[in-house]
Amino acid sequence: MRNKPTKPPGCHFSAVWEFCVRTDRRRAFEKIYGPEGDWARLFSRGDGYIRTELIRDPKTTGRYVTVDFWKSRQAFERFKKQNLVAYKALDKKCKSLTTSEGLIGEFEKQVPPDLLRVGATTSKTDLAAKHVIRQATLADLPAIVGLEREAVSAAHWNETAYRDIFKQDAPARIALVSNDQNGATQGFVVARLNGQACELENIVVVNSTRRHGMGSRLLQALIADARKQRAARIFLEVRQSNAGARAFYEKFGFALGGRRKSYYSNPVEDALLYTLML
Ligand SMILES: CC(C)(COP(=O)(O)OP(=O)(O)OC[C@H]1O[C@@H](n2cnc3c(N)ncnc32)[C@H](O)[C@@H]1OP(=O)(O)O)[C@@H](O)C(=O)NCCC(=O)NCCS
Repeated sequence: MRNKPTKPPGCHFSAVWEFCVRTDRRRAFEKIYGPEGDWARLFSRGDGYIRTELIRDPKTTGRYVTVDFWKSRQAFERFKKQNLVAYKALDKKCKSLTTSEGLIGEFEKQVPPDLLRVGATTSKTDLAAKHVIRQATLADLPAIVGLEREAVSAAHWNETAYRDIFKQDAPARIALVSNDQNGATQGFVVARLNGQACELENIVVVNSTRRHGMGSRLLQALIADARKQRAARIFLEVRQSNAGARAFYEKFGFALGGRRKSYYSNPVEDALLYTLML
């Protein structure tokens, strides 16, 4: 007799909700339900929370879908049990935003087990949550260049190239920095907009605070900004050997779509091309 099928080792769990939003409350809804919104911040208290996506139906006015990603259903249920009062309070506060809401379903997706490393403790997510993500300005140039120089695996530009980002006639870009409570810059992301395409050119988090969710917050902010600018996809190149960055992008749903042979020099190496459809 065959054994009962067991759950594959590397699954993550997502809950998909559908909302019909009142016409005059759409902006408030997008803020509260977006990847940086009140719900995402509340979920960040939970060990095992990954991220939230907010998707607008372009054909039906006011219809939205949210997808909350968790490392497991147990992680979500544990979070809910531990934060029931805050969960119910926020749910109540949000009632006036919508005319209807409903759970479409709960899903599980198999992902490589190493992406499910149990390690996102509350204190880790707290640390990232305390950072402020804001638009970069020319005054951030020394900090950006300093962070980039320390990050061996980052893309390397000269200072003039970074300075050019802030010129009036520069190509359209999204440049964000992450500041800690003391105002120190701990990370940045730079991306170029070209029509519906958004090229993630560089992302760096200071070595001492990696694996604390800072890169995720920067990437979430970039995704939100790119969507606002009507970008349809984010693409990037990464060194084949940059396993950490590849795992990071794959966790966010970037799909490997191609390879540029010997694209990088010092040392010579292939570039892998990843794309995230927005
Ligand atoms: C890539 C980078 C920006 C990620 O920043 P970060 O703040 O460490 O990322 P996060 O803490 O938000 O990581 C989110 C998830 O991505 C994955 N991840 C991130 N770094 C990883 C690594 N080194 N190995 C495996 N998985 C990794 C993990 O799944 C992680 O979640 P977990 O810690 O709960 O397991 C950071 O490692 C960095 O600055 N690297 C050097 C610069 C660089 O190479 N940039 C990319 C240029 S293309």
